[in-house]
Amino acid sequence: MMRLLVTGGAGFIGSNFVRHVLAHTEASVTVLDALTYAGNRDSLAGLPSDRLQFVRGDITDAALVGQLVPAADVVVHFAAESHNDNSLHDPRPFLTTNIVGTYTLLEAVRAHDVRFHHVSTDEVYGDLALDSPDRFTEDTPYHPSSPYSATKAGSDLLVRAWMRSFGLRATISNCSNNYGPYQHVEKFIPRQITNVLAGIRPKLYGAGANVRDWIHTEDHSSAVLTILERGRIGETYLIGADGERSNRDVVELILALMGQSPDAYDRVTDRPGHDLRYAIDATKLRTELGWRPRFAGFADGLEATIAWYQAHEGWWRPAKEATESFYATKGQ
Ligand code: NAD
Ligand code: TYD
Repeated sequence: MMRLLVTGGAGFIGSNFVRHVLAHTEASVTVLDALTYAGNRDSLAGLPSDRLQFVRGDITDAALVGQLVPAADVVVHFAAESHNDNSLHDPRPFLTTNIVGTYTLLEAVRAHDVRFHHVSTDEVYGDLALDSPDRFTEDTPYHPSSPYSATKAGSDLLVRAWMRSFGLRATISNCSNNYGPYQHVEKFIPRQITNVLAGIRPKLYGAGANVRDWIHTEDHSSAVLTILERGRIGETYLIGADGERSNRDVVELILALMGQSPDAYDRVTDRPGHDLRYAIDATKLRTELGWRPRFAGFADGLEATIAWYQAHEGWWRPAKEATESFYATKGQ
């Protein structure tokens, strides 16, 4: 595990993972990232150049991937088109990156017998009823709702097929909704924080009753590292930190933490096909691998995240106007 090839390492979760690995291990990291609208070179600023190499390139580029993979001991695959709202507007890049890109990586790790870790989402399981005690486990059937989650489900199934058919040495993790520093302002929590900072009212889809199971991205990073170090080849692990909250609760908490009136938000057009609730049962990861989240309270993690966006306007401001213009075209 000394040399990691991290795809999507200039994105939200990938860049946080790279920071985590460099801080907690002696590994060296090569990032492969296309720097789409969601990638930002500045998210990797200040990291040691003797242990981090950055390659700008596309995971669908088989020649480039074929050069980089043999120099790695493990490929950790974060790169994806990741936003549901974008996938409803234009699904094509989701198919290209999430399906063809994953296929391209799988063929390279197969050819060079390199270990692969596939980073995925709990959204592959579809949604749960708001009023049920059910949570997703590793045995929940796949039932994706959106073009985003369908392409992530497709990529998971490709990894499983490559393990079974070709003996690929791989692991898969499906994590719940992440929040924390370096998240693009299109996503729910940073959108609302930066709205307040920019003097715009937060925007809640529909009535805001939908529930997401929030985990700090630092806890996602430690879970992926735990799987790399101690996970069993061929296994899938669900990652979550018991952070269920309705969207309305989250908006009200952001407003309260930022000194605003808790009702100072707008209700806007709902997302078509909007999944009601996600919830993770992470018993397997906790009991088999002994993993524990560090952020116990959502309010503490959220407060730290708000402070990060307050202190890093130069990082988020360039993307804000185009993001809000896109949402405005959809009444959101
Ligand atoms: P992100 O959109 O912030 O980052 C994606 C990164 O991938 C960007 O840096 C982008 O430039 C890069 N990328 C996109 N297409 C590429 C291509 N064709 N070739 C090379 N690089 C490309 O996404 P994120 O929120 O950090 O998510 C990372 C991974 O974690 C994704 O696989 C996502 O499905 C998964 N995940 C996300 C969440 C969440 O809450 N955000 C939860 C669970 C799982
Ligand atoms: P999002 O961050 O897009 O993540 P996901 O679709 O992967 O869950 O959205 C999280 C929740 O917040 C989801 O239920 C949609 C809702 N939402 C809003 O209410 N307002 C917003 O402005 C956005 C972007 C999302």
